[in-house]
Amino acid sequence: MRILLAGHLGQLGRTLMPLLARDHTVEGIDLPAHDITDRAEMLELAARFRPDLILNSAAMTNVDGCARDPGLAYRVNGMGTQNLALAAARVGAEFLQVSTNEVFDGTATEPYHEWGACRPINAYGRSKLAGEWYAQHLLTRFYVVRTAWLYAGEGRNFPHRILELADEHGALSVVTDEVGNPTYVVDLAEAIAKLIKTHAYGIYHLVNDGAASRYEFAQLLLDSSGRGAVSLTPIASNAFQRASTPPAYAPLANTAAAALGIRLRPWQDAVAAFIDAAGYRRRDGDAL
Ligand SMILES: NC(=O)c1ccc[n+]([C@@H]2O[C@H](COP(=O)([O-])OP(=O)(O)OC[C@H]3O[C@@H](n4cnc5c(N)ncnc54)[C@H](OP(=O)(O)O)[C@@H]3O)[C@@H](O)[C@H]2O)c1
Repeated sequence: MRILLAGHLGQLGRTLMPLLARDHTVEGIDLPAHDITDRAEMLELAARFRPDLILNSAAMTNVDGCARDPGLAYRVNGMGTQNLALAAARVGAEFLQVSTNEVFDGTATEPYHEWGACRPINAYGRSKLAGEWYAQHLLTRFYVVRTAWLYAGEGRNFPHRILELADEHGALSVVTDEVGNPTYVVDLAEAIAKLIKTHAYGIYHLVNDGAASRYEFAQLLLDSSGRGAVSLTPIASNAFQRASTPPAYAPLANTAAAALGIRLRPWQDAVAAFIDAAGYRRRDGDAL
């Protein structure tokens, strides 16, 4: 296939690009060279490259930034997706929209299935739901892939922050009342590569298996990297002043992709793989 990948310089995009390039011809676009909010540019790019699939991993992902400027969040995550979906419609391409667990309100008592009602509680979630709406209403051959709590060997993400703070301060406080699915981009990228071969369009939840609180995630990062001696204090999220309010309990359940045989490994195994790949594991005798 010929794939136009928007957001190829982001955490997920950097992993997807070389993986997809093994089987497909891939053209990546990202800021600053290309802006998905520029409709004319997106239509022109698609007309020139003639993709079979447009995969949108580009987004404004700074959730607090989205809360401070909801209009910009909507322009990028909603209307940027509209532009790419219109471009897909114009050239007859399939479409894959990467979305988020933050389309849910977090009041559930068990993980959200693909058919759960979307009720975002913050600007990021509302803008991402707008993106889903455009994909679903402008196209028929689309995938919506919701995921959560992404981390990669490089980029800004929770594991890097936790391990940096552990090394700087030797003690941390992490919230216990925010629950999701820590998801390693390597596993998500492999699942997406399988999904696009099925042409089984629809809504999918692709996350590493199992759920954890931020506190549990941090504890495993410390333990499995040889930093178990770092003091970790459980706190409640209302101890923090943040622009955005995350959904409290918003893990996703993978039902639809599992029915196609696409499953991601348990999140604990993925953390171990990340620690090794990113070189975070301490040897016995390393100074704390
Ligand atoms: N990160 C998570 O925990 C998480 C959780 C659930 C779902 N998701 C979704 O998963 C997808 C990938 O996330 P990620 O972690 O890889 O995000 P990321 O690292 O922030 O990558 C997103 C990329 O999109 C680019 N971008 C932003 N605005 C753009 C625009 N107007 N035109 C073109 N490119 C633009 C960004 O460029 P700049 O860096 O220059 O802004 C960045 O390179 C996104 O759709 C996100 O909403 C992420």
